[in-house]
Amino acid sequence: MGGPMVLGMPLKQVSLITLTFQNSALILIMHYSRMMPPSGDHRYFTSTAVLLTEVIKLTICLTFAIYDVSRSLAPSTPATVIFEQIYNLVFSGDSWKLAIPATLYTLQNTMQYVAVGNLDPVHFQILYQLKILMTAVFTVTMLGRAISPKRWIALVILTVGVSIVSIPSTDPKDGSFMLHDMTDHFFPRSVHELGQMTNGMGEVARELTKRGLGGLAEVGDALTKRSATYEGIEEDQNATPAMSYSIGLSAALAVATLSSLTGVYFEKVLKDSSTSVSIWIRNIQLSFYSLFPAIIVGIAFKDGQDIIQHGFFDGYNWVVWTLILLQAFGGVLASLCINYADNIAKNFATSISIIISFLFSVWFFSFRVTLTFLLGTTLVLTSTFLYSGPDRKRGRPPPINIVN
Ligand code: C5P
Repeated sequence: MGGPMVLGMPLKQVSLITLTFQNSALILIMHYSRMMPPSGDHRYFTSTAVLLTEVIKLTICLTFAIYDVSRSLAPSTPATVIFEQIYNLVFSGDSWKLAIPATLYTLQNTMQYVAVGNLDPVHFQILYQLKILMTAVFTVTMLGRAISPKRWIALVILTVGVSIVSIPSTDPKDGSFMLHDMTDHFFPRSVHELGQMTNGMGEVARELTKRGLGGLAEVGDALTKRSATYEGIEEDQNATPAMSYSIGLSAALAVATLSSLTGVYFEKVLKDSSTSVSIWIRNIQLSFYSLFPAIIVGIAFKDGQDIIQHGFFDGYNWVVWTLILLQAFGGVLASLCINYADNIAKNFATSISIIISFLFSVWFFSFRVTLTFLLGTTLVLTSTFLYSGPDRKRGRPPPINIVN
């Protein structure tokens, strides 16, 4: 009971509710940022976005830590003393333990760009729900907590729901979705493309009326020749990148595994620790250790050559900045949820955001709803409510002492 309050509500509830909205917005904006035409001569480098997210999160948490520490000291304490205290807290005791989740979270954040860039926001969200099952398994094995039979049933329903949604709705040969086939081949993506298509159709109509139906074959040949010349034209940098369902699926499964393992590990560090270290200090430790893999693996190895050639901020625009800020804010929220509630509660809060993503995707990404999608989603949501509902008390009261 108790715990910190915000606007008259427990921080635990506020952070869970805010996370729901943050999560939907994050996935939608991330997907949009990978699909939109780049603003520079290149799409932005995800490794730079991952690094900046950590830097911003570090700054937010440092601000809270300074506020926290200075409250416990006399008002006239010099800034150097405050910083020294924070430094000692960050680099003392079991701080090294945070290096492991820091590396795993950096990998997770990098893979998330791959998953969201190759899947619809809704499909990603649904597949990502597998982390609930994995988190439960890790919670039992690593934290030694028990889970009731009702909740295990909810977890099985969840897995079935996720599996149904993950079945591609058309052509299993290339594993792609009808949605992309439709939008990529039949709908123009710009006024220019629309003009080209209309022009082409006009040409066909003119030729057909001139030659009568007998000229159909000739027109067909002419069009085939014309399309062959188009194929020779180099791929336009501004075109929407193709999405690969198999890459998206594998990345989403990897992200789900990393998320559950890392979340439970972080919870273990927070709740097992004998020394009481504030959540802000823990987050500073986490962000600090994240800088190493983000710089060494992401910036230097993965995108190093391209960053030197095009520049660190190539392709950045307001969408990318919004995404980075939202991701940093989400990291802080996730840590508050893990600290004041737990990982399982955090996961269920984010699964509600599926509905929000779904509604937006129908409007903005012309998402097509299939029957299997609806069935799978219904199962996922049912399991969410089944899991988060109160555990039923035992049907019958325990036997009364019958000795007398
Ligand atoms: O999807 P999931 O809840 O696992 O995502 C957690 C996100 O929150 C990750 O992007 C992770 O980097 C971030 N996080 C954080 N600080 C924490 C815990 C999680 O930045 N203490």
